[in-house]
Amino acid sequence: MIKKKQLLEWEMYPSEIELTVEDQKVLALAKKHLEYSYSPYSNFKVGTGLLLNNGQLIGGSNQENASYPLCLCAERVALAAAASVYPSILIDTLAVTIQHANKIIGEPAMPCGACRQVICEVEQRQEKAIRIITQGMEGEVYIFESGLSILPLAFDASFLL
Ligand code: THU
Repeated sequence: MIKKKQLLEWEMYPSEIELTVEDQKVLALAKKHLEYSYSPYSNFKVGTGLLLNNGQLIGGSNQENASYPLCLCAERVALAAAASVYPSILIDTLAVTIQHANKIIGEPAMPCGACRQVICEVEQRQEKAIRIITQGMEGEVYIFESGLSILPLAFDASFLL
């Protein structure tokens, strides 16, 4: 038996003011899009921002439905919008943030497993990693170099061939 392990590395910044101006912009867009979250069932808003290779910014937010499994995560909303409007432009960066209705969350907001899976497929499709910037409602900001780095041993299309 051989024990295997994988190291997870990311950057931590004490607050958004430590980020580059460009990263601050994408995160600010994600925060702006919290406003457009439709989340009457969870009362948990998620906002996202994408920076594309051509400098274009695209925002997203979670969109819920009375039929709960139909709820759309903010990450996938933004990725689908980018693929629909700018199908041939590569995505550089995805920013994610959250807002809880009745408590302060100071921990960075991590994309759910399903969103990580979708981010990985977009990375594979565009043959380029997507940087992920996350922050909670305040405080520390994490930056991950790619979606794949937060979904170790990911399933992908190569298994199907
Ligand atoms: N949600 C997201 O938008 N992104 C995630 O990565 C995790 C969860 C949304 C789905 C639902 O509207 C609410 O947050 C509570 O799960």
